[in-house]
Amino acid sequence: MTNPFIKELMNGKENGSFLALDLGGTNFRVILIQITDGIFDKEEVEYYNIPKHLFTEEGTKLYDFIAISIEHFLTNRGANNRHYDLGFTFSFPMHLEAIDVAIHTSWTKSFSCPGVIGKNVRELLSSAIQRKTNLDISVTCVTNDCIATLVYGSYFDKRCAIGLIMGTGNNACYIEKTSNIHKWKDTERSESAVVLEWGAFGDNGVLDFLRTKWDRIVDKKSVVKRTYTFEKCLAGKYLGCLVREALVTLAQEGLFCKGKAFTDELFYTKDVLSSYLELEDVTDDDARIAQYVCGLVSYRAALLLSLVTSMLLNRMDRPHCTIAVDGSLFVHHPRFKPLMELLIEQNAPGKSFSFLTTKDGSGKGAGLVASIENRIRNS
Ligand code: GLC
Repeated sequence: MTNPFIKELMNGKENGSFLALDLGGTNFRVILIQITDGIFDKEEVEYYNIPKHLFTEEGTKLYDFIAISIEHFLTNRGANNRHYDLGFTFSFPMHLEAIDVAIHTSWTKSFSCPGVIGKNVRELLSSAIQRKTNLDISVTCVTNDCIATLVYGSYFDKRCAIGLIMGTGNNACYIEKTSNIHKWKDTERSESAVVLEWGAFGDNGVLDFLRTKWDRIVDKKSVVKRTYTFEKCLAGKYLGCLVREALVTLAQEGLFCKGKAFTDELFYTKDVLSSYLELEDVTDDDARIAQYVCGLVSYRAALLLSLVTSMLLNRMDRPHCTIAVDGSLFVHHPRFKPLMELLIEQNAPGKSFSFLTTKDGSGKGAGLVASIENRIRNS
């Protein structure tokens, strides 16, 4: 649980062009937003694929890649000759001491770059921009993806009180009464955003009762082992691995992939099994079994996420809570959203809520935070 140091939301007096970066999953985004009197005029987003070797090499190389990508983005648009404030969505565990002092505490997901843990993310990025480019950029805020999503969601719906990420990783933040927060003191506001970093829930063993042997195998094969227990049960990075491990067990027990002939029904499932898992002679039964396993793994993920989200709704007890969501799993999984709606209704009975899916909100929100900081500084 961390303090994201969000002092205010937008109030209609923000103006200017702001850069935003989003680093967290497999690709990295550079975003430019233009705001006039608190209204989005223009937004441009570009995706950059992070080369594989940068996931594990010295961290400064990753920051250099980020700096070079920003320069590429601005130069391509003929927009590299002016000053920008920049908001950085950095979706990894960090300890914020201020909105621009974010100490990186550990890596998660696929990253394990040495040399940057314990350092201030803003300084690492600013140094790389100076080292690698001629750009005039002030990194004015570092934020997490769920906070950026919440801020972005609030732009569209003032009832937004939860920011949820369901992509490569999983996390949430919510609005809490300041009097209920014991970890830090905030005497200026009656309510404050709290980042839960709940992917690490269960690292003390409290979720052991529900972990299966496949969860343990997935953990053993993960980049950052014996940590982020909850995240490994449900986030996008791990669901496919869970399905794979369950299918391997079924195959070892002679229940899957015994190599009979097949028809062209279930084409897509078979195609995935043969092209991605490189299985031969996939039968109709194999495809049905794989679909069933995918259904179970997806259902468990939706149930776990719905339970913790319901807990927040019950705790906040608002007349209505809009949940701003971003993340590839939520956006692309055909059943996730309806399933969560059903499961939350069952577990937070009577609570009025709705999902607001925010495409790239996890990045654009950092631009909004930069615009708010800019307005506060200049007022
Ligand atoms: C991981 C990160 C967390 C992030 C989440 C979603 O859990 O540790 O900070 O918010 O992934 O990207």
